[in-house]
Amino acid sequence: MEELVALCKRRGFIFQSNEIYGGLQGLYDYGPLGVELKNNLKQSWWSTMVYDRDDVEGLDASILTHPDVLKYSGHEDTFTDPLVDCKSCGLRFREDQIPDQCIGEELTEPRDFNLMFKTNVGPIDDGSSYAYLRPETAQQIFTNFKNVVDSTSRALPFGIAQIGKAFRNEITPRNFIFRVREFEQMELEFFVKPGTDDEWHKKWVDNRLKWWIDQGIDASKIKLLNVTGDDLSHYSKSTIDLMYEFPHGLEELEGIANRTDFDLGSHSKNQEQLNIKSTTITNKSSNAKLAVQDISDNTLVVPYVIEPSAGVDRGVLAILNEAFKVEKLDDGKERLVLSFKPHLAPIKAAVIPLKKNNEDLVAKATELKNLLQKLRLGRVVVENTGNIGKNYRKHDEIGTPMCITIDFDTLEKQLVTIRNRDTMEQESMDIKLVPDYFRNYFLS
Ligand code: GAP
Repeated sequence: MEELVALCKRRGFIFQSNEIYGGLQGLYDYGPLGVELKNNLKQSWWSTMVYDRDDVEGLDASILTHPDVLKYSGHEDTFTDPLVDCKSCGLRFREDQIPDQCIGEELTEPRDFNLMFKTNVGPIDDGSSYAYLRPETAQQIFTNFKNVVDSTSRALPFGIAQIGKAFRNEITPRNFIFRVREFEQMELEFFVKPGTDDEWHKKWVDNRLKWWIDQGIDASKIKLLNVTGDDLSHYSKSTIDLMYEFPHGLEELEGIANRTDFDLGSHSKNQEQLNIKSTTITNKSSNAKLAVQDISDNTLVVPYVIEPSAGVDRGVLAILNEAFKVEKLDDGKERLVLSFKPHLAPIKAAVIPLKKNNEDLVAKATELKNLLQKLRLGRVVVENTGNIGKNYRKHDEIGTPMCITIDFDTLEKQLVTIRNRDTMEQESMDIKLVPDYFRNYFLS
């Protein structure tokens, strides 16, 4: 983990947030390469979950959330961690995460601590008008259920996908970007007919496992955990967690829950007319029935929900961990390489003029960069720093799949040299063939 954190800072993937003022715990900023990696991961999720299917719509809802949403969702009452204080040193921590220095010391009785961030809305700061920063992206998918059904005429089964920020006032943020206070989630709420939920739950677990493997995660490092007992969320009938071997241990990467009819039922008015199976708080505030018409018998049905919920930041950490390799070379030296899957690589290609600031070489390199950039397959850069060896090393370390060198043969014979990050092999190619080669490499 330490090596990874150091690389992330040195090469511009991830920085401690607010660093010049001493930092704020549990917050990180994504730098020039981190933002590309993160966007590529989110784009891959969106393509698979929305574009590649014909039964999912997208949504981008607000982060500030009406308190009633989080009252009826159960978060105001149950989204808590048990917190204790050490009477010896005054440290405050989760009951199940006692720091080494406090083991054996006298602790206070555990008290429930709500993890949601509250903020004032509007000009009056007397606590009468407040909202929460959403603790999960899911809730606004439920509150928009009727809007999406009415505007798209969707029938069951179908899903609504959303990617966005979530906020939790974690008592002990730790392990780099693994447990933070501000993070992103990629969530799908997939609405199904009651009775078909178990079957869909299984399908989604298989589907999500395959997706992570397609992102470059080694299948042997993911274990499925059937969540039971107190670890099962208040809304869930059954949850399977995809547990990944992070550098600090086996921990949750994504959870796939069967949320039953709890959420749509909880946010509905006239609940007594809806034959809701789960136990909900009586809702006197909602103005909508979140149900669909069953055309076979004209009754209203509250759909069950299967929810694959993945953390973007944990995904980025897992992908960095998988990609990070130190290889021994034939000459006895070592090279550090990030072997990202091509679609995730922050920079797709570096075009390198052999001689720094040579006008003709730089012009040719820029011309090729612009041509490749227009293919819209991701970021391409001109690397005008001169030293080819150093450039190869740098681009290995940041995971650039190909380096294209422009030299005097390019000017005279239209030939470029393409070096592959993984094999380190170099091949000479007519510059005219490069766009097709590049396109095929990233689209295959
Ligand atoms: N809507 C369901 C839900 O939010 P969760 O298991 O609490 O379920 C889903 O969160 C995913 O969000 C987790 O699997 C994890 O990847 C990510 N996540 C949760 N808390 C996080 C935190 N404090 N920091 C980073 N990622 C977090």
